[in-house]
Order: sequence, then structure tokens, then C-alpha cells
Amino acid sequence: MRKIVISTGGGDAPGLNAVIYAVVKSATMRGWEVYGSRSGYNGLIDFDDLIRLTPNDVEGITPMGGTILGSTNKGNPFSMPITNLAGEVQIVDVSERIMNNFKRMGFYCHIAVGGDGTLEIAHRFSEMGMPVIGVPKTIDNDLEATDRTFGFDTAVSTATEALDKLHSTAKSHDRIMVVEVMGRESGWIALYSGIAGGADAILMPEISFSIDKICEKISDNDLHHKHYAIVVVAEGAAAEDGKVMVSGESELGRDEVLLGGIGKWVADELRRRLDKDVRHLILGHLQRGGSPTTFDRLLALRFGAGAVRLADEGKFGHMVAWTPPVMTSVPLIDAISSKKRVDLTSDKVMTARDIGICLGDSI
Ligand code: F6P
Repeated sequence: MRKIVISTGGGDAPGLNAVIYAVVKSATMRGWEVYGSRSGYNGLIDFDDLIRLTPNDVEGITPMGGTILGSTNKGNPFSMPITNLAGEVQIVDVSERIMNNFKRMGFYCHIAVGGDGTLEIAHRFSEMGMPVIGVPKTIDNDLEATDRTFGFDTAVSTATEALDKLHSTAKSHDRIMVVEVMGRESGWIALYSGIAGGADAILMPEISFSIDKICEKISDNDLHHKHYAIVVVAEGAAAEDGKVMVSGESELGRDEVLLGGIGKWVADELRRRLDKDVRHLILGHLQRGGSPTTFDRLLALRFGAGAVRLADEGKFGHMVAWTPPVMTSVPLIDAISSKKRVDLTSDKVMTARDIGICLGDSI
């Protein structure tokens, strides 16, 4: 009988539990046994963190946010921070131990669910000889190899709902509300939620913005008797002469930083230049929480079932991907080699411009 192990790594995203559900059900239908590794690769480091998953264990988890397996940003097995007896933190490579435990358990394959960081780790294990299937996950929707990742639609819905609520309070006080959303180096969440949520300006990493242009838009609003404005700023956006704002170090064990702070900067600049009340807020991890939308559930279930089909075909070292209308697969190396950024010639960007949304540039 085949035994497989599934893990969820990196930041969580709504839909992870739906992937786990589909993997457990599809694999069990084939007569396979499924195990879950807690908190990324922990279950393959210490067997206490390896749990058997049966259909009964996953009953009813599809609509649940988060992941029943837990996730971690500190789980890079090739450079794992471990505290020794003296209380000092040492960086240790535990990849060989994971390979040995994988073999000892007699696993047929590993299904790794995660974003670019997790898939990069999965690729390294694949190169060491582990049969791996990747499942893409990120609310940022920034993986080039798949049209969509699950979690994105939910994050956009949450951000849109927040913008809807901000309109009434902004209008009551004739205020400018600056809302910072997630997305790392891509402006997908900002663009989609900004258009759907009636923003006056959307600032994305793909377009260096000019504060003067945003001021012009707000003044133009005033001329047309609209005395409030909603400005959506992606965390990775930067002004023409500015740089990306960083709020801290990431724990991913890679050369990554936590982005954040641009919303406050934009709010301060607008306050300095305009005779207006300005407030800012950061939506932050609210965008990662809650029950997945129907779209994300369905995509996650399709990814989970698709991953088991790939495993059945022995198509290891690949990731499931959605290139509408088909569910397909791409080599893991292609999945991690390039980031998907907003196409400035796309109809979504044109729509934003056509309906009068300022994107911070001169067009
Ligand atoms: O990649 C998903 C994401 O939510 C980004 O949008 C954000 O920059 C980052 O993760 C936040 O990471 P953390 O959970 O470590 O704060």
C-alpha cells in the first residue's frame, strides 16, 4: 500500500484545509494511507509531529480558515534555527535527517503545499531524490506558473469589504483614508480590491507613484463635490524617488524582509500637502484569515485532487497549476523562477484608468 505525507509551509492562506481534505479523500479512494507533517517539515524531523489523516479526521474542514497541520515561516530545513542547551540559537541543516525519516517511513511521495519559499525547499528535496509534488499557495497571487493561487480571492473579498465600510466613515468626516494591503512585490490585492471597493487611487509596486498626482486626484474630487477619498496602497509600493518600506526581518531564512509602512508614509505626505483630515490603517493579517470563498475552496479542492493524480502518474518534481480552462502541471523549478506581477496593459488596469482611478502616474 502507498503511503504519502502532506505538509503546509510558509504563511497560511484560506483554502489550505480544503487542499488537505481533497488529498486525504483522493488518496484514500485509491487505497493509499495519508500522513500529515505538522508545522512544515516538523513531522519528518520528529515523528511526534507526524499524524495519520483519515477521511474522518478531515470531515468538515473544507470551510475552515488556517491549516489543521499548522504552518511556519521558520521551517527551512536547510537552515533551521535551533536553540542549544546553552540557550544559543544555531543554524542547522536537517535535510539529511528528513530524507532518512522519509525513507524509514516508506513514503511513496510528499505533497508540499506552499508559496515560493516552500516550493523552493520542495525543489531542493526533489533534487536530493525525494518524490515531491507541489501545490501553490499564496494570498499574493504572485506565482507566474499558475493563473491563480487559492487564498487570493478571499483576501481580495476581505479587503473589498473593508473598503466598503471605510466609505461611509470617510464621507461623514470629509476624510482621506489610506489603506495598506498585502501582496509583497505584486499589486494584485491592491488592484482587485481597489477597483471593486471604489478606491480613488491605487498604488502598486508595478508603478512608481507621484504624491502630486494623488493630490491632483483628491483636489479634482473636491471640484466635483466629493470631499473624501479612499487610497489603497500595496505594501510593496514605492514613490518615484522613494524606496520600498520595510517593517522588519522575515523569519523565512532567506534574504527576505517584512514589508510595511508605506500607508503611513503616504498619509503623512498627503496631510502635509492638503488641507484635509487624513487617517491610515493596515489591513494586515485580516486578509489571511477566515473561511475561504467558494472560488478559493473549489480551486483548493481541485489542486488537492490534482496533486494526488500527479502522484499517481509518478510526475514528481512538478507542481499543480491552473491555466484556464485546464488544470495542468509545471516543473517545480519553473514555478519558483519568476514572480507574476500586474500586467500594466491588462484590461483590469485599463478599467481602473477608464473609471477615473488614479494609479499615481502621469497617464
Ligand atoms: O506572502 C503572504 C504574506 O501575507 C505577504 O502578503 C506578507 O508580506 C507576508 O506574507 C507577511 O508575512 P508574516 O506572516 O510573516 O507576517
